[in-house]
Amino acid sequence: MKHVDVGGAAPYRIAIGEGLLRDGAALAKHVRGRHVMIVSDAQVAPLYARDLADALQAHLPDARVIVSCIPAGEASKTLDRFAELMRELADFGATRDACIVALGGGVVGDLAGFAAACWMRGIDCVQVPTTLLAMVDSSVGGKTAVDLPQGKNLVGAFHPPRAVFADTATLRTLPDRELRAGLAEVVKYGAIRDIAFLDWLQAHADALLARDPAALVEAIARSCAHKADIVERDPRERGERALLNFGHTFAHAIETEQGYGGLNHGEAVSVGMVCAAHLSSRLGMAPESDATRLAALLTRFGLPVAIPAGLDLAALVDRMRLDKKATAGSLRFVLWRGAGKAEITPGVKDADVLAAMRPLQSAPP
Ligand SMILES: NC(=O)c1ccc[n+]([C@@H]2O[C@H](COP(=O)([O-])OP(=O)(O)OC[C@H]3O[C@@H](n4cnc5c(N)ncnc54)[C@H](O)[C@@H]3O)[C@@H](O)[C@H]2O)c1
Repeated sequence: MKHVDVGGAAPYRIAIGEGLLRDGAALAKHVRGRHVMIVSDAQVAPLYARDLADALQAHLPDARVIVSCIPAGEASKTLDRFAELMRELADFGATRDACIVALGGGVVGDLAGFAAACWMRGIDCVQVPTTLLAMVDSSVGGKTAVDLPQGKNLVGAFHPPRAVFADTATLRTLPDRELRAGLAEVVKYGAIRDIAFLDWLQAHADALLARDPAALVEAIARSCAHKADIVERDPRERGERALLNFGHTFAHAIETEQGYGGLNHGEAVSVGMVCAAHLSSRLGMAPESDATRLAALLTRFGLPVAIPAGLDLAALVDRMRLDKKATAGSLRFVLWRGAGKAEITPGVKDADVLAAMRPLQSAPP
């Protein structure tokens, strides 16, 4: 078991290890009142909600522990689902010392976290992430949100959790594709600020893909330490936190342009990071060989590194402009000065973005 402490105005601890969702004593320490609502989704709840509820109840004999289940998937991150949670909390009689426990991936974490941020102007939230992506990214840092038809994460709040319990045993049931998507975000931490971590990931790729518990705990702990270090200094993304968006400007454009059913978020981030690395070389900021090494590592993890055939590159650039509210003719990106050295780079010309992307697009089938 490992711990990562997140400092700042509202400090909390991330615990990482096998079997944590059955550790009722540790979980119960973060519950102050008598109302506990576990929010989960239809795929995760049948696997883990009972064990978590029983573990909590055993150490909180005077509390009521209920489970609220949403349909699995991004389509549940809506204002309607949020309103439903508000009504359930009202029916439950949840008081200001109530606690919401988010059991699931980033969708559950973002929705349940936002519900906790809003109920009675803010109640406690404990994150129990069950996807690799949620363990290394969405459960840490306090960003919560729901989507609107106009765009992702448009309504939300900063609301740090009281604690995070990443039970790595839950990763055994995670579909392969979701595991790989999480690995893209793990690689991102190495790419932006830790070249030694990239080497470690290269050396432990087989173990991670085989879901070796020790390798997973180490990768999650190192990723969380990076995220904690950044969000502690810049909780509200006024500066440095933007580095976590390495590859994401390309990724969001690809995701939106493809619509549902294309690459998932982690896969799009994988392609986006390769685009960012190649754009950096084109601008003379970094050697091309670093971009090639990054693509090789992502490929090793079974992640895509090419822009899907059929996407209109000019339309992707238009999307990026909307995403970043850039000035006419130029965009702002997170690029790198070689592996492990990301930086925010304003004033990138559309023509350079297009030229960097062109060789990276798959040929039509
Ligand atoms: N708040 C943040 O800082 C932040 C950061 C990154 C991403 N996000 C958000 O996270 C969301 C994506 O999260 P995600 O990739 O975890 O997706 P997800 O929550 O949709 O989970 C992916 C799928 O895996 C299933 N699943 C989860 N855990 C499982 C397990 N242990 N066993 C079997 N199945 C399991 C889920 O039911 C779902 O079908 C997006 O909405 C994104 O915007 C938020």
